[in-house]
Amino acid sequence: MAKYEIAVIAGDGIGREVIPAAMDVLDVAADVTGAFELRWQRFDWGCQYYLDTGRMMPESGLSTLGQFDSIFLGAIGYPGVPDHLSLWGLLLPIRQHFDQYVNLRPVRLLPGIPGPLRDKGPDDVNFVCVRENTEGEYSGAGGRVHQGHPEEAVVQTAIFTRAGTERIIRYTFEYARRHGRRKVSSATKSNAINHSMVFWDEVFEKVAADYPDIQSDKYHVDALAARFITHPQTLDVVVGSNLFGDILTDLGGALQGSLGVPASANLNPEKRYPSMFEPVHGSAPDIAGKGMANPVASIWAGAMMLEHLGETEGARLVIEALEKTTAAREIITPDLGGSGTTRAFTEAVVRALRGL
Ligand code: NAD
Ligand code: IPM
Ligand code: MN
Repeated sequence: MAKYEIAVIAGDGIGREVIPAAMDVLDVAADVTGAFELRWQRFDWGCQYYLDTGRMMPESGLSTLGQFDSIFLGAIGYPGVPDHLSLWGLLLPIRQHFDQYVNLRPVRLLPGIPGPLRDKGPDDVNFVCVRENTEGEYSGAGGRVHQGHPEEAVVQTAIFTRAGTERIIRYTFEYARRHGRRKVSSATKSNAINHSMVFWDEVFEKVAADYPDIQSDKYHVDALAARFITHPQTLDVVVGSNLFGDILTDLGGALQGSLGVPASANLNPEKRYPSMFEPVHGSAPDIAGKGMANPVASIWAGAMMLEHLGETEGARLVIEALEKTTAAREIITPDLGGSGTTRAFTEAVVRALRGL
């Protein structure tokens, strides 16, 4: 039987509630298929660890994580620690260090969940966002001079490399081909951002020419944001830079009914390094500790992890159980208009998974 070593960083806020829930579901999937075992190792890193030690993770954190098959992460960041310190102390270094250059984020309305758009159901809201995940606006290059003085100046530089831009766009077309998707739409802003986004468009056009079987188009990101709302049915696969992809996928979460729904896979497609799976949402301090966080995003992220590990049947069963549970609407968390708890929803998914 296949055994997978999984590093778990539940992190902060509701990460500590939704990750254990998803782990329970994945363990049941392992049991039901009888095909694999997940060997979890928990790391208590995050904002409390920072307050105790002055670091978000130990100095050896990245090399420790490098020994695992996958990383399963909840959320990082909590009031009391500045967000740029917590995120640059833990989440963003993992994405960069392990060259997780693909951030795959499906935008799909699950059955039984009323989306916010009148007359748009699961048939209309069903596309995939591919976000560049290691450079662009999140390169971290820049600095401040004359700090605190009237002449203070700040530079934050977006870096787009040819290698980085080409590989994310090529991955997107390959993904479209592999999954029977027919169109790739590029998020640009080359009307105003006249260096990097003009370059992005050039690379997009060059790569698109290698895939005559896949349609391609591009939208300025402002118009694309509107299109998410007005014509979601015209989107199939969307590719965008790090920041554009970040913003568009919270909008995608809203289209899915709640930020408690969308999942995210940070992939190193070549499998040279571990990939990381997490919900799109953050630590939600406003509802943390109440037991009412929606675990759908984390369970879905868990299914994406199984898929990446090659456990296709397990992944399929988890998604089916999720869909059965949302379609029944007997237990739904408050963000989706219900009154169910994290635990009660999770138990319903487990029952569906066991065919009960
Ligand atoms: P957030 O995603 O944590 O919350 C936004 C809103 O969505 C809140 O009202 C919250 O209650 C709701 N929400 C989010 N997830 C939910 C769930 N599973 N069930 C029900 N409701 C849910 O975004 P934020 O408030 O901007 O960020 C809070 C903290 O999380 C910040 O420190 C931020 O930097 C961090 N953050 C971390 C990650 C990550 O680790 N991947 C992602 C996003 C934000
Ligand atoms: C996400 C989050 C992160 C991002 C933050 C917490 C740094 O918003 O995963 O979408 O912007 O990538
Ligand atoms: Mn985000």
